[in-house]
Amino acid sequence: MKVVLAYSGGLDTSVILLLLRERLNAEVITLTVDVGQEDDLDEVAHKAEKLGAVKHYSIDCKEEFVDKYVFPALKANALYQGKYPLSSALSRPLISSKLVEIAKKEGADAVAHGCSGKGNDQVRFDLTVKALDPTIKVLAPVRDWGLNRDWEYEYAKSKGIKFSVKFFSVDDNLWGRSIECGILDDPMVEPPEEVFKWTLPLAKARNEPEYVTITFENGVPIAINDEKLDKVQIIKALNSIAGRNGVGRIDHIEDRVVGLKSREVYECPAAVTLIESHKDLEKLVLTKWELMFKESVENMWTNLVYSGLWVEPLKNDLEAFIESTQKRVNGSVKLKLFKGSVSVVGRSSNNSLYDPKLTTYESHTILTQEHAKGFIELWGLQSVVAFRKLLGNYGAGRS
Ligand code: ARG
Repeated sequence: MKVVLAYSGGLDTSVILLLLRERLNAEVITLTVDVGQEDDLDEVAHKAEKLGAVKHYSIDCKEEFVDKYVFPALKANALYQGKYPLSSALSRPLISSKLVEIAKKEGADAVAHGCSGKGNDQVRFDLTVKALDPTIKVLAPVRDWGLNRDWEYEYAKSKGIKFSVKFFSVDDNLWGRSIECGILDDPMVEPPEEVFKWTLPLAKARNEPEYVTITFENGVPIAINDEKLDKVQIIKALNSIAGRNGVGRIDHIEDRVVGLKSREVYECPAAVTLIESHKDLEKLVLTKWELMFKESVENMWTNLVYSGLWVEPLKNDLEAFIESTQKRVNGSVKLKLFKGSVSVVGRSSNNSLYDPKLTTYESHTILTQEHAKGFIELWGLQSVVAFRKLLGNYGAGRS
C-alpha cells in the first residue's frame, strides 16, 4: 500500500509515519505544504526521511495560498463568529488538493492526515479529498486508531525519537497562528504570555501610535506606506508591524462543526488589520444596499469555509457576487496602531461615493434641504399610518 501523508514534522504526524509503516506495511510518501508556517522545512524533510519516508515533497504554495484562499477570505471580510479570520481553516483545502495531486502522480492508494476526531480539520481534509477524487482513501490514524498524545510521546520515545513535550497544539500560516489545548482548555484561564509569538503584550508594545497606510486594488492590498510589495511580503510585513503594536490577539469561545464548544486562542495581526481596513474602504465605495446584502453573503461564505465545505457550489455563487463588488474597492486606508488597537483614521478612493459638498452643513451645500420635508412624509407614510391604526393595541396613554 502506498500512502501520501500530510507531514508537519510534529509529534502526531511523525508517529503516524511510523505506524503506517509498522501496522499497514505502507510505503509512506510525505508532503509538507509551505503556507508560510515558521518551521524549518529542510529540517522537516530530513526528519521525514529519517523516519522512513520513501520520498518527501516540500511544495512552496505561499502565493497560491494567498491568491486562492487568503484573498477571497479578505474580500469576504471573513471572521467566523465575528472573531476568527479562518487562518487554519483556509489552509486545509489547499493541503488536501496537494495531497490528491501527489497521490495521483505517485499512484498512491490513500492519503493520510494527523487530525483528531474532535476538530474541524478532519472534516475539511476528508471532504475536500473525497470531492477531488473519491477513489483515494483518506486515513486519519489519530482518530481511527484512537491515538492520544501521551501514548504517542511514549511510543516515539520507545523508537528512539525525542520530542520536547509541547503543552499546546499550534498551527500557523501566513494568515495566522492558532493555539489550542493544555491549560487553554479552561476558558477561565488567561492565556499565558508564552503562547504568543507574533504579538507583543500591551505593556511592551510601543508607547507611541504607529501610522500605516494600506493601498488596495480590486479589494486586495498592493502597497504599504506607498511602497508596492508582493502579496506574500505585504502579509508578512503587516504581521510584523501590527504584531509589534500588540494587534491581532484573539481569545474566544468557538462553535465547532462537530457540535463542540471550544476555547480558541489566535494571533492574526495581518488578518485583523487587513480586514478592518478593507471593510472601511468598502464603506466608502459601495452603496448602503450592497453593504447590507454583502454582510449576509460574507456570513454564509465564512460559515461554509469554516465548516469544511470549500467545495460547496454555493461558495462559488457567493464569490461571483463578491468579485463583482471588489472591482471598485480601490484606494487607501490610513490606520493608527496603538497598544493592541487598530483604528482607521482616514480613507480615500477614486470610486468614493462620499461627497463632502453634499454632506456638509455649511451654507454652500448643493443639496436643496427643502426636498427632505416631502421625502420624510412619503418615506414614513406606511409606518405612521400603521402606528396610528394600531394605537389601541399599544395601550392607553400613547398619542
Ligand atoms: N479552531 C480552529 C479551526 O477549526 C483552529 C484549528 C487549529 N488546528 C490545530 N491543530 N491547532 O479552524
